[in-house]
Amino acid sequence: MPRTDPAVIVALDYPGAREALALAQKLDPARCRVKVGSELFTAAGPSVVAGLKSLGFEVFLDLKFHDIPHTVARACRSACDLGVWMVNVHALGGPRMLAAARAALPLGLAHLIGVTVLTSHSEHELAELGLGSAPARTQALARMCRDVGLDGVVCSAHEAPLLADLAGDAFMLVTPGIRPPGTPADDQRRTADIGEALAAGARYLVIGRPITQAPDPAAALEACARAAHRKGE
Ligand code: C5P
Repeated sequence: MPRTDPAVIVALDYPGAREALALAQKLDPARCRVKVGSELFTAAGPSVVAGLKSLGFEVFLDLKFHDIPHTVARACRSACDLGVWMVNVHALGGPRMLAAARAALPLGLAHLIGVTVLTSHSEHELAELGLGSAPARTQALARMCRDVGLDGVVCSAHEAPLLADLAGDAFMLVTPGIRPPGTPADDQRRTADIGEALAAGARYLVIGRPITQAPDPAAALEACARAAHRKGE
């Protein structure tokens, strides 16, 4: 465990372990956690998680499990056995799936986070899927996650204020789409800077390219960590 509770989670979106570990070696594990997503995990497997842990990092395994309750529970248990710090599931899997995941990961093991509505979905797509409007669906799914005892949800900083009544020490908001002032939006559409995201209620900030593609990733992380510095950190 880092001695502090850094707000920044660096998304290591790389095609293989070599690139991910090379970048991680430039970062200070006291200033951030790291996120391993589908691309990296599919290519590199559990050994990349072990490699990052051996460098001193806590790992968010971002595989967004969504399957029958039994399968998701087993997947969460496998993630926990890798010693990850945080793991996530799709809230659209429904309350029985979420409850099975929770039962497989008792409090105090890895943080269990629900994904509400993907920020890539347009209102048109949501209507086609029969999911209604993004704000209403996000609120309903986040409430479901809270009610079955998950530790929080992933949401954009733009949705975070809608979840203010749910968010708190026992229910954290994890926000991607963060762009420090002066950095390109890349393919993100609904971005926020660090101050905006924290003001909106975010506890953890997922930041990828503004750090990983910076000329000096360590300096970029330091700037983000300073901007995110909170009392008690
Ligand atoms: O490079 P960038 O900062 O845009 O990376 C954001 C990370 O957060 C990526 O790993 C992306 O998959 C993830 N993410 C996101 N939007 C979501 C959920 C996850 O950008 N709604």
